[in-house]
Amino acid sequence: MKFFVDTAEIDAIKELNDLGMVDGVTTNPSLIAKSGRDILEVTKEICDMVAGPVSAEVVALDAETMLAEGRKLAKIADNIAVKVPLTWAGLQTCKALSDEGTMVNVTLCFSANQALLAAKAGATFISPFIGRLDDINTDGLELIEDIRTIYDNYGFDTQILAASIRSANHMSECAKIGADVATAPPGVIKAMANHVLTDKGLAGFMADVEKAGIKIL
Ligand code: G3P
Repeated sequence: MKFFVDTAEIDAIKELNDLGMVDGVTTNPSLIAKSGRDILEVTKEICDMVAGPVSAEVVALDAETMLAEGRKLAKIADNIAVKVPLTWAGLQTCKALSDEGTMVNVTLCFSANQALLAAKAGATFISPFIGRLDDINTDGLELIEDIRTIYDNYGFDTQILAASIRSANHMSECAKIGADVATAPPGVIKAMANHVLTDKGLAGFMADVEKAGIKIL
């Protein structure tokens, strides 16, 4: 499973990228707003740092303006994936951009039918939002499973990009189901390293190091 990092914070991306943990980056208008940076400037900086796809989202609601915005975003770098919402206008924009050879990430997906439409419209990535479904008492991981089944049934090559990931458990569950990509905030990716037995075991080793006066350097 590829790891995308869901942030526009340059320092956080750099730290994970230096460790080989970043296969791509996703942003959205809320993350850009949180960074306090200009969208074109910060997106270019991310594209220069990361080799994989960098999602940058359009902000218009009609297809004509979305397409113009998408074309402008695509010019930032070769690794841009233009992000469009899963609306009819978004699907029209997806088809037009993918026909032009631009990667497209269709976002705000909450149903298997929406994912099916995005694949038909030539999406490179579909972004089902797990956490926001969990928030309304619906199993977000079940949606990832359903999309995996449908895409495999028909050989769609649209990649399932699990989004709105809130926990390390979401990451391992997505990997078990076979999501192609999971995009998560830096804190969630770092939390994957944590285990209470690792902490307990290390504390025991350190107590013995102290007792026996073990030194290596
Ligand atoms: O990847 C989509 C993400 O940014 C939304 O996450 O936690 O706001 O639902 P969240």
